[in-house]
This record gives sequence, C-alpha cells and structure tokens, in this order.
Amino acid sequence: MTSQTKDDDGGFFTEADSVEVVTARNAGARDKRLREVMEVVTRKLHEAVKEIEPTQDEWFAAIQFLTRTGHMCNDWRQEFILLSDVLGVSMLVDAINNRKPSGASESTVLGPFHVADAPEMPMGANICLDGKGEDMLVHGRILDTEGLPIADALIDVWQANDEGFYDVQQKGIQPDFNLRGVFRTGPDGAYRFRAVKPKFYPIPDDGPVGKLLGALGRHPFRPAHLHYIIKAPGFEALTTHIFDPDDPYIGSDAVFGVKESLLAEFRRIDDPARADALAFRHGWFWEVEHDFVLARNGAGRSDGTVDQKASTR
Ligand code: BEZ
Ligand code: FE
Repeated sequence: MTSQTKDDDGGFFTEADSVEVVTARNAGARDKRLREVMEVVTRKLHEAVKEIEPTQDEWFAAIQFLTRTGHMCNDWRQEFILLSDVLGVSMLVDAINNRKPSGASESTVLGPFHVADAPEMPMGANICLDGKGEDMLVHGRILDTEGLPIADALIDVWQANDEGFYDVQQKGIQPDFNLRGVFRTGPDGAYRFRAVKPKFYPIPDDGPVGKLLGALGRHPFRPAHLHYIIKAPGFEALTTHIFDPDDPYIGSDAVFGVKESLLAEFRRIDDPARADALAFRHGWFWEVEHDFVLARNGAGRSDGTVDQKASTR
C-alpha cells in the first residue's frame, strides 16, 4: 500500500458514506477556505443528488446544459453570471456582502452593462445624446446616515433607452456613452441630471439561460430602472438601481434585483415653462427625486456586527 492509500481513511465509496469519503479525500487541501467550502458544497450537492435521484440521462442533460453555458461565454457574454442571476444567487451574494447600517440605501446587482470610463459631466447635464425618448429630470441628494450632505461624491449612472437597449448593445445605432454619465457633488450633496425615461428589457435570452427560463415558465424581463454606483471618500461604495414602480415587471424581475426601498416615484410634470427652462422639447417631462444614503466605512450593520473588511480599509 502506498502512503497515499493509507492516509485516505475515508474508506471506499458507498452511497451511504459518499459525503464522508469525498470530504476525507479533500482533507489535505492546503487552503483552509477551499477545504471548508468544498466540505459544504460536497455535503449539499450529495444531499441534492440523493433527494433527486437523477437518471443517467437526466444527469447527462445537466452536464450538457453546463457545457452549453460555458460555450456561450466570451469576452462580452458571461452566461454563468446570468445563470447565477436568474437563480437568485447573485442577489444573495450581494445581500451577504452589503449588509448596511439602518437608514443606508440598499444595494442591488451590478449587471453586465456598466462601462468604466463614462465621461464626468457638469451637474444638470443631459446624458441622452440622441434626443430619443421621453424627457426625464432626475435629482436628489447624497447623504450620510445622519442626514448630512456628502460633498465630492461621484455618481456614476447608466440606463437603457426607451426601447430597452443600452448603448453597448447597439453600437453604431446609439452614440457611444449614450445615457451614461458621472457627476460629482458639491458641498450641498445635491445631484441632478437630465435623461429619458427607461424601459423594461429582456436579459440576454438567446442562450441556455434563456431556454431554462422558458422551461421554467418564466419571462426574461427586468423592470425599467436606472443604475448607480456612488462613491465618496470615507464611505462604502454603493452599487444600486432605482426602479419605476409602475412597470409591468416590477413584481417579477428576472434577476430578483427589486427591493421596496429602491422604488422611486416617476412623476409626469405638465409644465411647459419648466420644461422649456430644462430645454425639454414637448412641454412635459418625467421627474424623479431620490436621495441616496451612504454608510461610513466600518459602520455597524443592521444585524449589529461590523464589516471587518471596511473597518481595516
Ligand atoms: C442589468 O440590469 O443591466 C442586468 C442585470 C443582470 C443581468 C442582466 C442585465
Ligand atoms: Fe440594467
């Protein structure tokens, strides 16, 4: 017997002892976190297989699904993230990593359409570069949990157009950086920009994840929203959205990104003088007022604990 065989004291594989046998085999992993993670994954995965009792054909279908998911991935398409999104895992990981002190704005998924180098614009600028869609004014304040304004906050905003497409999905059709911009707050913490009302849209559904949604009797749509990443010195970065509560998909977001606190009010303003002053063309516009509250680095969380990562930053 080699020492390798002798040390593997989990015994031979049996249906009943499968978890213990595999976990014992992994016990020599040098990385403690990997060892712990694999212990849990083995336990839960074997439990699921024992409950489901898949046929060989069913297990092979699952392998083929994962294979197709991998083949769908390239530099601009990440089908595994989409899979994580529609299974609710992305939102769960987001929730675990973004427990906030009470009063702080809640986070939600980043999504695949953020662009790192969007231009910084003067406060009040119009991020709609092609003049298409229903005019919208968005404004509010960036505050701390005491309600005080945060100066020098960077607000990175991006959204789909009124047909439900991001600029990066329509290269050559929409101008580059259409409906994207970065704004910096002054001492009053106020932000303000002009845009157009976004529309609901489907997540990319021409791959295995779209097929899975179909098989589950689910639609691929996300309700209309604006994306934000807000950063300020001394505060935790906030990745979030605001949503249109009147959207037909508000109760059934394909990726589970909606939270009650992220519902904004989209008010139709029929006021030609105000519309004119904002250089809006139709005598009316949508107005959205929404404040964001940032958590201080190292602040306690609503579950009473302190984010260790943040406190050592
Ligand atoms: C988005 O909102 O941009 C998005 C989020 C998750 C999956 C696909 C799109
Ligand atoms: Fe989006």
